[in-house]
Amino acid sequence: MHQDIEEILISEAEIQQKTLELGKQISVDYAGKSLLLLGTLKGAVPFIADLARAIDLPLELDYMAVSSYGASTQSSGIVRIIKDLEGPIDHKHILIIEDIIDSGLTLHYLVDLIQRRNPLSLRLCSLLVKDRPRLKDVPIDYYGFRIPDKFVVGYGLDYAQYYRNLPYIGILKPSVYEGTKPETEHQSPAE
Ligand code: PRP
Ligand code: MN
Ligand code: MG
Repeated sequence: MHQDIEEILISEAEIQQKTLELGKQISVDYAGKSLLLLGTLKGAVPFIADLARAIDLPLELDYMAVSSYGASTQSSGIVRIIKDLEGPIDHKHILIIEDIIDSGLTLHYLVDLIQRRNPLSLRLCSLLVKDRPRLKDVPIDYYGFRIPDKFVVGYGLDYAQYYRNLPYIGILKPSVYEGTKPETEHQSPAE
């Protein structure tokens, strides 16, 4: 286990198992259709990569980059579009893929934006859903795990851009981010 991790919340094997289940369910639900998986950069990259390979449908992948966190453990509430989709989606079934729904701000913003482009259908799939009140309500069609309101990293989830490469979901030791303020630059976490 990484030295900055307090506890492994969800193991690599559990993630893999759940991803296969979700992929099967999505394949059944969209049988006979083609689907565009809309991944959110950067956090959802490992999840969308594994989930896509568990889906047995004609599948397209595209990505949007929206960010609501800087180098902070709290959502700033300001969602920025950094990269948009490549083409129109008015004739496509869209499934948004997220790694985590925390405050709900990011997804609420995305759903609004995508809805206005008139897709054939729009649903959401998040690997993790945090157990906490949402600042914005979002309908979650598929999810992997409910998790406690702790700051987690790994399998795509970062703290100040680090830890995305951990193969599991772990709780970050508070000592790693204690004494830091939002919008401040960080040293690399191991220092
Ligand atoms: C994180 C995470 C979700 C979002 C969830 O992304 O990957 O996309 O925040 O938080 P919310 O429900 O409170 O909006 P982040 O903005 O950190 O960008 P990243 O994916 O590049 O890490
Ligand atoms: Mn994200
Ligand atoms: Mg992040």
